[in-house]
Amino acid sequence: MTFSADSLLPAWALAQDQQDPLRSLAAAFHFPQHQQKPVIYLCGNSLGLQPKALAAAMETELKTWQEEAVGGYFKGPNPWLYYQEYLRPGLAKWAGALPEEVSAMNALTVNLHLLMLGFYRPQGTRKKIIMEAGAFPSDQYAMETLVKHFGLDPDSTIIEIAPKAGEQCLHTADIVDTILATGEELAMVLFAGIQYYTGQFFDIPRITQAAHQVGAVAGFDLAHAMGNVELALHDWQVDFAAWCSYKYLNAGPGAVGGYFVHQKHASNPSFPRLAGWWGNDEKERFKMEKGFQAKADAGGWNISTAQIFNMVGLKTSLELLAGVSPVALRQKSQALTAYLAFVLSQLPQLKATCITPSDPAQRGAQLSYFFAENGKAIQQKMLENGIVTDYREPGVIRFAPAPLYCGFQDIQALYALLKENF
Ligand SMILES: Cc1ncc(COP(=O)(O)O)c(C=O)c1O
Repeated sequence: MTFSADSLLPAWALAQDQQDPLRSLAAAFHFPQHQQKPVIYLCGNSLGLQPKALAAAMETELKTWQEEAVGGYFKGPNPWLYYQEYLRPGLAKWAGALPEEVSAMNALTVNLHLLMLGFYRPQGTRKKIIMEAGAFPSDQYAMETLVKHFGLDPDSTIIEIAPKAGEQCLHTADIVDTILATGEELAMVLFAGIQYYTGQFFDIPRITQAAHQVGAVAGFDLAHAMGNVELALHDWQVDFAAWCSYKYLNAGPGAVGGYFVHQKHASNPSFPRLAGWWGNDEKERFKMEKGFQAKADAGGWNISTAQIFNMVGLKTSLELLAGVSPVALRQKSQALTAYLAFVLSQLPQLKATCITPSDPAQRGAQLSYFFAENGKAIQQKMLENGIVTDYREPGVIRFAPAPLYCGFQDIQALYALLKENF
C-alpha cells in the first residue's frame, strides 16, 4: 500500500474502509461510548473489546447451571466436562498448532510457571536461561522465582539480551549468537513472541532452531502475538508457549489463558509436570483411582476443574473468529499499521520517534512511539476526544489498531485531531 497527500483526507480513508472485506466484523463488538459515539479503540493490545454475543453465551451457561446443576457437566448445550475441547480448534488455528497441542486453563503467568516447571531441568552445567531484557515484569518475576526455586542464583543463571546502545529493538543475529555462545550451558530460552513495550515481533523459528541446536528447549510468551500475527508453532518446533486471551482474542478481563505443548512432548504422558485430575483422561477421571494417568496430549497438562464462566468469553470470541483467516487479518493489520506510521510521520511537530521496528514483518498491530515532549498531554487529549491508547513512562504511547474492529477512518480521525491540537 502506498500513501500520498490524498491519504490524509477523510475521503481516502472512507474509500479504504469501504473496500475492506473485514470491516463488518466491528459490528460484532461493544464499543465504549464517548459523547454518544463509539470511541476509537486503539488499546486492544491491553484489553480487547467485548463481543456482543457474549452476554447470551453467559446466559446459556447460567441457565444450564440453574436447570441442571451438577448435571451440567454432562447435559445442556455445552456439557462442561468437555469445555476445553470446544476451545481447541480455534486455539489451534490461531497458534498454528494441532488441536491436540493446545488447551486453556488458569491465566498466563500461572501457565508459564507450570510449563517451565516441566520444561526447565537444570542439570550439571546446563542451567542457564536466556530471555529478552525488559521482558514484561510478570515474566521477569516468574523467571527469578523459578530459578530460586531450584536453589540457583538468578543473576548468574538468567542471561538477558538487551538492545545495542542507542537502539530499542534486538537483532535476531544477536539473539542467535548469544544462544549459540551459551551452548551446552543453556537449558531454556523463554522469549516474548511480541515485545509488550516496543512491539517487536521476534523471529520465533530462528530462536527455536538455535535453542535446539545447542540442546536447549524454547518457550514463548505469546500474550501480544496470539490473534495478532500468523503463528506456526507446530512447524516451528516450538517446545511450549502460553498466552492470555484478553488482548487480541477479546475473551474478557482476566479470561482463561491458553497454552501450547508441542506434540513431541504432549504425546508423552511421562513428561514431567505438576498434575491434577483434569489432566486425566475423562473416561478415567471419575474412577477416583490412585496414580495419575496423563492424557497423551496438551490436555494432559490441565489441572483443575474447568473454570466455565471464565472460558465462555474465549469460546465466544473464537467462534466469532471462526470465519476469519489469520492471513487476511494480518494483511489488514499491516495496512493499518503502515497507514498509522505514515500519518504520524506527517506530524513532525509531535517530536515522536517510533520505537517499533519499521519492517512490517517484525511487528504486529502495535506501534509504540516515544514523545520527547508532551507524551502524557497527547495521550490525554486523545482520550478527551474519544481515542483510547495507553501511555507508559517515560513518554511512550502504544497505538494498537486491532484489525478486527479498527479501520482507516479511525486513523485519519486521529491524524486530524493531533494536527489540529499540536
Ligand atoms: C507479555 C505479558 N506477559 C505476561 C502478562 C501477565 O499476564 P497475566 O496477568 O494474565 O498472568 C502480560 C499482561 O498483560 C503480558 O502482556
